[in-house]
Amino acid sequence: EKGGYDHYMLKEIHEQPQSLRQAIAGRIDDYEDRVDLDLSLSDSFLRDVEEVQLVACGTSYHACLFGKQLIESLADVRATVEYGSEYAVGSGRTPDRTLVIGVSQSGETADTLRGLRAARRSGIRTLGVTNTVGSTVARECDDAVYIQAGPEIGVAATKTFGSQVVTLALLAVAVADARGELDPDRARDLLDDLQRLPGAVQGVLDDEETIRDVAEHYADGDSFFFVGRQFGSPVALEGALKLKEISYDHAEGFPAGELKHGPLALVTENTPVLALLTEGARPDETANNVREVQARGAPVIAFSSATRGEEDVAEQFSIPDLGLLEPLVANVYLQLFAYHLANSKGRPIDKPRNLAKSVTVE
Ligand code: M6R
Repeated sequence: EKGGYDHYMLKEIHEQPQSLRQAIAGRIDDYEDRVDLDLSLSDSFLRDVEEVQLVACGTSYHACLFGKQLIESLADVRATVEYGSEYAVGSGRTPDRTLVIGVSQSGETADTLRGLRAARRSGIRTLGVTNTVGSTVARECDDAVYIQAGPEIGVAATKTFGSQVVTLALLAVAVADARGELDPDRARDLLDDLQRLPGAVQGVLDDEETIRDVAEHYADGDSFFFVGRQFGSPVALEGALKLKEISYDHAEGFPAGELKHGPLALVTENTPVLALLTEGARPDETANNVREVQARGAPVIAFSSATRGEEDVAEQFSIPDLGLLEPLVANVYLQLFAYHLANSKGRPIDKPRNLAKSVTVE
């Protein structure tokens, strides 16, 4: 059932070229550079939307942070991201011109449902983005879009993260189009990149041994830092969550610019720093932060655009040219890093202590 893999998590990481293809299947009209998500929300509602609020938890929250940036930059509409457990309907918003998007792989996360229900009570229109047909999120929202990733068994969410981001990218194009804000060149670039994403991810999977060796080499680190900017920042958070969840090692992710505002105090030669230096992650500025940790002796594992060469980093991985989606490709390296590091320590991987696949309590 694990398809020859030792763990579901590894199987699911390897399924990503296919799951990413499924996320866009039948949804892109290449001829017109448009997207069809079969939404039942009316075009006139989408045209007049003034604010998009994304609500989620854990890995899905990180996908929302990525999605927020895509929605804001493509559709020119304000977008916010809130944890399901923290979502509160504030004053001064225009409920009839707000769209709440609840993102949940399982569709059963109590905190996310709590946020969605609070929105609905205020008369706000809700859209669920989920992997699970017939789930509570799908049933309770006014509309639902499925990420079509196939079942995910490992407690650590992997393939569903990429599919959530891809689905939010398609939504960003659809909302931009409905609002009359769609820039055809930018839409074309993004849709092209989405179509090339599965191939780029396959390239990372083909390089698994290299990242496995790196993960095993640094397995004794005291603490692991993950940094990136812009589209790299949610991926940094996600890389850290994955590592802490399955390896039980301390890991922190943050926007690279924040290092000097506190976390730098923790950096020693035993703090491996995984840095995203790709397109979409403002690599030049992040390279300055990389130098700050190097000055404290920290080994840097860099994930860089193919055109870049970092100075004096301990390890370097090259990410193929994929525009804003490059951090998403680097994320697959981070998944493999977490997996192999945890596996080298004999951790249970698919069922980490204290965690459940679907969190149905608040
Ligand atoms: O099913 P959901 O997407 O709503 O789950 C949300 C989180 O519980 C989930 O992403 C959790 O953070 C994962 N175990 C992370 O790998």
